[in-house]
Amino acid sequence: MEKVVSGIRPTGNLHLGNYFGAVKSFVAMQDQYQCMFFIADWHSLTTHPKPGDIQNSVRTILAEYLACGIDPVKAPIYVQSDVRETLELYLYLNMNCYLGELERVTTFKEKARQQPDNVNAGLLTYPTLMAADILQHRAAKVPVGKDQEQNMEMARRCARRFNNIYGVEFFPEPQNFYFSDKALKVPGLDGSGKMGKSTGNCIYLRDDDKTITKKVMKAVTDSGPTEPNSEKPEVIENLFTFLRIASTPDTYQYFDEKWNDCSIRYGDLKKQIAQDLCAIVAPIRERIEQFSADTATLDRIARDGAEVARQSARATIDEVRRIIGFRII
Ligand code: ADP
Ligand code: TRP
Repeated sequence: MEKVVSGIRPTGNLHLGNYFGAVKSFVAMQDQYQCMFFIADWHSLTTHPKPGDIQNSVRTILAEYLACGIDPVKAPIYVQSDVRETLELYLYLNMNCYLGELERVTTFKEKARQQPDNVNAGLLTYPTLMAADILQHRAAKVPVGKDQEQNMEMARRCARRFNNIYGVEFFPEPQNFYFSDKALKVPGLDGSGKMGKSTGNCIYLRDDDKTITKKVMKAVTDSGPTEPNSEKPEVIENLFTFLRIASTPDTYQYFDEKWNDCSIRYGDLKKQIAQDLCAIVAPIRERIEQFSADTATLDRIARDGAEVARQSARATIDEVRRIIGFRII
């Protein structure tokens, strides 16, 4: 069975971008693939060198994973820092990665701009640690949102290069997996690019109905269409993206027709989006509360997950050591 792996950094609560961009795919995949999901706490050190109460941040996101429907019996969940084997592969991969290509990664350039006083080597080698996360399980598929495409390209390059240098067919080239037919970028409601923690434009899975509705009703719009069948400007297209991911096809079509004949009322459109988002988020929110209350179970799930992940990683690392020529210890 093909292996699947993916992770999210514990730098804040899960939002709808994370959910529709990645976690929903995780959940859909757990029945068909051999899945493992993890919490990328080492990666969060690249931007948050003093992570504060990391244990609790990890528990928070673990409860959110479970609430979204990840079943740890089918798909073990582990914490990245519990699997030290990853670091050995990270080292080998770094030996075959070049400064130039790492410096060209857009997320590196972006972060370097955002935190000019902390352009650390971890930030530069973020893609090789991500490649190690994936390749240590020899995963074939990785469910992530559009913003991770370049990191995924680096992971494939790491796999190819290792195979070429040592003349083996050891690592499969991991492919991005999208729940729908193409990469999804959940937009921000403030008219700007994507929904993301650092931009402060998120709807969180912990938000109550009132908060969600307020956020949606405040979404940026324009003055409305003036010509039938005109192209939608970005802010309106963004609202329709929410309809596409959260509402039924009939509802989408209904508002699309209203747009096309210029009779659309943005208030109604937003109310519909708010209502459909609340219907998705409310049950998840309730389950988050239940799972969060039981820290003993959360800790046990992470311990069990680490066990599975360590075994899987160790088998790969032993083989990598053998291929490079090191002793197996
Ligand atoms: P953030 O941008 O809020 O810090 P992360 O970078 O931690 O979110 O992303 C975790 C996962 O969620 C990744 O797989 C990423 O591709 C996905 N993701 C985050 N925001 C979005 C979005 N707006 N649209 C689609 N996927 C997203
Ligand atoms: N870079 C991913 C993000 O920002 C997190 C991540 C780390 C990841 N390692 C990974 C995702 C391995 C998929 C596979 O969201």
